[in-house]
Order: sequence, then structure tokens, then C-alpha cells
Amino acid sequence: MRLSGVLRFLALIFALITTWIFIRSYISLNMKTIRLPRWLGLVTKEISVVRTKCGLTKPCPEEFFAFKISSGAANVVGPTMCFENQVIMSPVKNNVGRGLNIALVNGTSGMVLTQKCFDMYSGDVKLLVKFLKEIPVGMLVLVASYDDPGTKMNNEIRKLLSDLGSSYANQLGFRDSWVFVGSKDLKNKSPFEQLLKNSPGKNKYDGWPELLELEGCVPRKIP
Ligand SMILES: *[C@@H]1O[C@H](CO)[C@@H](O)[C@H](O)[C@H]1NC(C)=O
Repeated sequence: MRLSGVLRFLALIFALITTWIFIRSYISLNMKTIRLPRWLGLVTKEISVVRTKCGLTKPCPEEFFAFKISSGAANVVGPTMCFENQVIMSPVKNNVGRGLNIALVNGTSGMVLTQKCFDMYSGDVKLLVKFLKEIPVGMLVLVASYDDPGTKMNNEIRKLLSDLGSSYANQLGFRDSWVFVGSKDLKNKSPFEQLLKNSPGKNKYDGWPELLELEGCVPRKIP
């Protein structure tokens, strides 16, 4: 009796252990089969989240250039310009400054030709007049203000900026926020422009309005 009791006990233990091993391997098998798709799902998710060029809210169609421009924030943070996913002017690149920040991009190839900053508070604006007059046809002109684009603004510059398709160059003044994309070949006014007037009482910052952001898709120029 005692022996059969021991055998029964051993049989029970054996049964429990095999069940446990079976369950364990079954679970780990299951976990593998669960984990694999999950892991694959994660990867496909990462791939399917296509980051748009310049972080635009919507991707641009074929044959369009993506751009995003932020004006400077007060006199504290400089402006940023992104074109076709390439940051061409920014505080990090250390190529921006107070006044008007202007980049020229070839409207056919999308190649950046130059980027310059013009001090509109104490600078020599003859340089800006010369620069604007010499912009070749077919160039996209990207502009972002920082701190003060208005003090040295004169009628000649307003006219030159209007000829690039600006609607607001005529009202641009002291410490306004302004972002703009234009070109000499435009027949009408540019659709890519924003102006926020410096207006004490409405300003976001003490002496400056809120910064402006402008993003969009410019059609590639077909030569
Ligand atoms: C712009 O790029 C096109 C194509 O590469 C070239 O033919 C043209 O001369 C460039 N324009 C300027 C003004 O550099």
C-alpha cells in the first residue's frame, strides 16, 4: 500500500511537471508568435510615419518645393528657414541676424545660391538695394524678419520688395514680424506672405508681436 502510494505520488508529480513544461513551452511559443507580429507592426509603423520635408503639416506634390519659415521671436531667438528639408538659415547655423534675413534659391534646381542678413536698424541699406536689384530672374526669395525690419526701410526697398510679389512691404515698420517668399517672375502677388504689426497692447512680447510661421509648397519652375 505504501509503495503504491509513493508511486501514485510520483506519477502525480511527473504529470504536474510535464504539464508545467508543456504549458511553459506553449506560452513561450505563443509569446513568440505574438511578439513577432507586434515587433513587425512596430517597424512598419515607424516606416509608415513618413516625416514630411521641413516638418510640413501636409507633404508637397511632385514638382513642388517644400519650405517653412519662422520669423525671429522678439530680439531673443533668431529666425529659421527650411527648404526641401534643408535648414538654410537658423540660429544654430549661426547665419541669421537682426533685420531682414534673405535666402536665394534657384527656382528650377532648388539649389541654394546665397543667404544674407541685412541690419535694418543701424546698417547700410544701400547693400540691400544692390542685393535686391541683382537678384536673377528664376530665383526664389525667402525672407524672415528678426527684431526690427523697419527702421531703415525706405521707398526704394519697399518698391523692390513689392516687385518680388510682396503685398505688405508698403506697410512694413519698426519691430513688425514678417515672413515672405517671392520671385521676380511672379505676375501676381505672392500667396506666401504674413505680416504682424508691432502694436503695443496687442503684442505677445513686451515690445514685439508674436513670431510668424509660414509653410507651403512652391511649384518648381520649368525652364
Ligand atoms: C538655376 O538652375 C538651372 C538648372 O540647374 C540653371 O540652368 C540656371 O542657370 C540656374 N539659374 C541661376 C540664376 O543660377
